[in-house]
Amino acid sequence: MNLKDALEGRLTAKETEKLGTSFDIVGSREKAVAIIEVPEELRKKEKIIGEALLRVHKNVVSVLRKSSERRGEFRLREYRLIAGSRNTEVLHRESGCRFLLDPRKTYFSVREGTERERIAKQVKDGEKILVMFGGVAPFAIVIAKNKDTRIYSVEINPEAHKYACENVLLNRVGNRVVPVLGDVREVCKILGQKFDRILMPLPEKAWSFLDMALPCSKPGGVIYLYGFEDKGSKDLEKKAKTAAKKTKTKIRILRKRKVLPYGPGTFKVCLEIKVS
Ligand SMILES: C[S@@+](CC[C@H](N)C(=O)[O-])C[C@H]1O[C@@H](n2cnc3c(N)ncnc32)[C@H](O)[C@@H]1O
Repeated sequence: MNLKDALEGRLTAKETEKLGTSFDIVGSREKAVAIIEVPEELRKKEKIIGEALLRVHKNVVSVLRKSSERRGEFRLREYRLIAGSRNTEVLHRESGCRFLLDPRKTYFSVREGTERERIAKQVKDGEKILVMFGGVAPFAIVIAKNKDTRIYSVEINPEAHKYACENVLLNRVGNRVVPVLGDVREVCKILGQKFDRILMPLPEKAWSFLDMALPCSKPGGVIYLYGFEDKGSKDLEKKAKTAAKKTKTKIRILRKRKVLPYGPGTFKVCLEIKVS
């Protein structure tokens, strides 16, 4: 049975069509949370929708309805519990790794698993890596799981950092991943190190940290700058070139990739920058 079937007789065909079929499930076969967007005009029926999701996915114990955009420094959004348990902490499985997290307290996107895999495949043994906006450390752990690396995963949200520490233990990568709590601007100064790769997964404003990232790169190092862009825009390239000029660093743009669609005509993109 799918969600559409479970809603038959409870929502009209028009309402079901309006709801769509897209939702995220974060967690495992044992316990998961479903996250769904419910259009304004269906809010009166959100409980029915939540309960239908619980019936369809037996592993789902809580259904959260998105009730705000992502905002603030921690990039969190508000959710309304529309069905199931208040306890929304889950153990999410991805790429042979496990991530303990609570989507209400930390940023985490199940849709970015492919991107994490893609970056991990580029990494070679022996590299030193900085993940600037580390969250619960999914990038660092997916990379470190199969590579002999030293990775610092820096995060400013104490809740996300707490989960990052637990996830390092859960995945037995304690000798390769170091979670650090703090503002990356301060942490970079204290670490005073140079890296082979620097990941900047804060698409709203990662570019504004380039003045910090560029001097932290080894010659020949690669920076992964994430951003949101309209189709055809060259905005990120321009920002990278401006920061390079300001910091007197020589860079070469390797490539730009679309990571995920973000809105009509807008994409989350990754600009790969080689520092020479
Ligand atoms: C878009 S999320 C990405 C998290 C993680 N990399 C992931 O893929 O799940 C960005 C994260 O950066 C953190 N953050 C924002 N500003 C920061 C700063 N100045 N220093 C360190 N972390 C920061 C936020 O708390 C948030 O968890």
